[in-house]
Amino acid sequence: MNEILRLSKPISWLDGIDPSSGKIIQPDHPQRGESIAGKIVVLPYSTGSTVGAYTFFRLVKAGKHPKKIVLEQPDSVTISAELAGIPVEIPMARKAYKPKAEAPEEFLRFLEKEACISGSKEFVRVSSVHISGVSYTTIGDAGLEFLEGVADKGLKVKVKSTINPTGMDLVRWREMGISENYAEKQLRIVRALLRIGAEPSFTCTPYLVGNRPRQGSHVCWGESSAVAFANSVLGARTNREGGVKTVVSAIVGLTPKYGMHLEENRRPDLVVRLEGFLEGKTEFGVLGYYVGKMAPKSVPIYEGISKASEDELKAMGAAGAASGSIELFHVKGITPEASLPCKEGCEAIKVGKKEIKETVELLSTSGSNPDIVVLGCPHLSRRELQEIADLLNGRRVKVSFWIFTSRLVFERNVELCKKIERSGAKVFCDTCMVVCPLRDLGYSVAATDSPKAARYLRTFQGLEVILGEIKSLVSLYTTRS
Ligand code: F3S
Repeated sequence: MNEILRLSKPISWLDGIDPSSGKIIQPDHPQRGESIAGKIVVLPYSTGSTVGAYTFFRLVKAGKHPKKIVLEQPDSVTISAELAGIPVEIPMARKAYKPKAEAPEEFLRFLEKEACISGSKEFVRVSSVHISGVSYTTIGDAGLEFLEGVADKGLKVKVKSTINPTGMDLVRWREMGISENYAEKQLRIVRALLRIGAEPSFTCTPYLVGNRPRQGSHVCWGESSAVAFANSVLGARTNREGGVKTVVSAIVGLTPKYGMHLEENRRPDLVVRLEGFLEGKTEFGVLGYYVGKMAPKSVPIYEGISKASEDELKAMGAAGAASGSIELFHVKGITPEASLPCKEGCEAIKVGKKEIKETVELLSTSGSNPDIVVLGCPHLSRRELQEIADLLNGRRVKVSFWIFTSRLVFERNVELCKKIERSGAKVFCDTCMVVCPLRDLGYSVAATDSPKAARYLRTFQGLEVILGEIKSLVSLYTTRS
């Protein structure tokens, strides 16, 4: 008899399931400890990282995969299980047709299945793709084999395709303490992606390095923080796409039209009234995290924020997509589609200092001294590097102090990065604190300014975490030189 496991709460496939045992490990999940192996798993939808799509390949490789998945609401990350050979169904799925394109039959069949599950009636041509699932830490041997298989077939991307961070700085990986064995696997992943024609961007901020879609354009992006930014700040249209699916769409050039591609789904369904004001970028992230946790699948509109920089919106989107599954948010008077009318029955919540403080406490698991400070989740912009350089001027770091940005932003700001490194801090590119093997490198307590990093450093890397604004982290963990 087929055993059915009905999940009462959404799951994050990246850090909510142990791929070697099939056990639920998500800390706040009511069914934590139960196994999905060999069962028919029924779930509402998934939350969190788009890289979680590769967890299906890892589960299959370990023989711990579910027999079938039944999704209550379509989401591209979970539908990617099909590509790993795990059937995905949705009650009341509609009939769909296969897209017309020159591409491998299995990719076209996958898109047909996604269209069928999502109820989409047509496919849209995408103007760009952002590929997630690039780090060896997150995708493992199963992901490496999938990507090499795609490259070995001689397949090429049809549209501009940028790539998410890898597991190491591709130039200074020895300085990070990365092993030869890890580097060899990571470089194989990189080579496979370059062979299919993807651009060597290695960043979660593709919009800072030339992949900045126009308002209203259809794209297919993985990396949940970049998805939130593309939809909310740029007004482009993308679903939160599973890492594997981004490879498929890059090669086919199409995606089914549903979810965020449709105007009616972009209307707010939750009003978030901010009481008081936000002090700094971390609080923007904390607010996003709180709302993602309270209403994981919502399209919130924030009221009461009088100004917000791109960096602050970037932090807010990243956090809401990590605690929940928020693909799009609006900020009244600031983001491009904030004038869209609210949906009928739209609810309102108030968020003030109390909720912000409680969320910071929830994300900080340790009061003890960190052995590393990590900044740059999402990857830092030039302006953020400048802020850090100013704060570190005339100071020496007391612990390891790693700062992450994209290769292109680094190369355009070499003098600024040298200034930062005079403090003893390191500026690394092509990777980040979450997707490099930080725990294996010997670190156990990390301080960060990013709620998204705080979440994954704890649940994915197993580290203790301290969350604070950059200013306070610099003052606590550096000294005057
Ligand atoms: Fe980017 Fe890594 Fe954070 S990919 S959004 S810096 S977890």
